[in-house]
Amino acid sequence: MNEHDSEKISWVLEGMNYESTDISEEADLIIFNTCAVRKTAEEKVYGQIGELKRLKRENSNLVIAICGCMMQREEVLEIVTTKHRHVDIIFGTNNIHKLPQLINNYEKTGKTVIDIVEENREIDENIEANRKYSFKSYVNIMYGCNNFCTYCIVPYTRGRERSREPENILEEIKKLAETGCKEITLLGQNVNSYGKTLERDYSFADLIKDIDKIDGIERIRFMTSHPKDISDELINLYANMDKLCDHLHLPVQSGSNRMLKLMNRKYTKEDYLKIIDKVKSINPNISITTDIIIGFPGETEEDFNETLELVKEVGFDSAYTFLYSIREGTPAASMEEQVDNKVKNERFQRLMDVLHPFGLEFNEKLLNKTVKVLVEEVSKNNEKILSGRTDSGKLVHFEADESLIGELVDVKINSVKTFTLEGVLV
Ligand code: 5AD
Ligand code: SF4
Repeated sequence: MNEHDSEKISWVLEGMNYESTDISEEADLIIFNTCAVRKTAEEKVYGQIGELKRLKRENSNLVIAICGCMMQREEVLEIVTTKHRHVDIIFGTNNIHKLPQLINNYEKTGKTVIDIVEENREIDENIEANRKYSFKSYVNIMYGCNNFCTYCIVPYTRGRERSREPENILEEIKKLAETGCKEITLLGQNVNSYGKTLERDYSFADLIKDIDKIDGIERIRFMTSHPKDISDELINLYANMDKLCDHLHLPVQSGSNRMLKLMNRKYTKEDYLKIIDKVKSINPNISITTDIIIGFPGETEEDFNETLELVKEVGFDSAYTFLYSIREGTPAASMEEQVDNKVKNERFQRLMDVLHPFGLEFNEKLLNKTVKVLVEEVSKNNEKILSGRTDSGKLVHFEADESLIGELVDVKINSVKTFTLEGVLV
């Protein structure tokens, strides 16, 4: 979500004739687009803004801005405005379109400009994005979240759930397809509840079916989905819709029903397993990935072992694993029995040991098979090697000419590791 917001910011700035640079010393404007999901990310931001003090001293024309989820938190705003006074512009998650005005205001007055929208966040349909790749793109389908998982800051920073009108989404995707985009990733905090705020009866599955009809789009991905809202209608699409990628990212968070209840996730381990069974019976080749939180308040050895058992039962192809991070203002922050960091780290290692063999097992099934790869870029370490992704999202390296970037090609896999595959072009 943040990456795509940054692409939008970049588009707005190009409209003001800014050009991008990788060299901070050359920059007239530096913007930090921040994430508030975990504390460590926030701490990194403070460290990095601190380092910019020197640049600001050397170049008095340099403008420093911070935006994104962190800025929606009062506590952060207080810290930035008192301890990091060299920050010139502060804006939130929903006012990217106002950036030209904010920069102008700052340049006119020389005073810190703060613009955070708290309520009535309307969807702005006029912003485009300066996309990193022409052949694959993110597309927002909804914003915000109504779920209030007890550990999560997102509903407070991104506001209530609201869906974009299907016509606007389909129009955006058609335009992308016309300019050579082959793969789209539909973005939302909980895409399965897409459509609930629309005035008509139109679901996430309906949206996918309409996108399937767009010529030129060859792959449809989405993230992220919530198990409580996943519909049979959506699961059934995996049976015979070629464009829908063989990948489902379905965050489980924990394998303990006690933890799931405390997290306010509104499903049980058994509900989750039922969904996975259905999906796998419809599409046995599907890659199933997840998010897991380790050390939620009160998590005992027994609870954690239930997570390990669930991981084994599902056989997740990979997982994003997070050490629970206290987010002030969320219900879990004030729960007693916070888990010790040492325990969290030790559990993390045990989880990795259980998880990794499944990734390798999934990849081994691809050995000597020919897979379709969307070619993305030249490998960072070797200019003769290209990298791209399979339908299931696996990274593949193979030797070929860079003219193939952006194309869907066939690659025969001849070597596999836990996280990557190698092969030859066929
Ligand atoms: N601590 C750790 N992980 C978190 N996530 C969200 N909030 C927290 C938190 N406070 C994780 C969840 C979610 C992912 C995007 O981030 O697993 O699915
Ligand atoms: Fe956070 Fe839960 Fe909403 Fe995901 S569904 S953004 S974890 S509150």
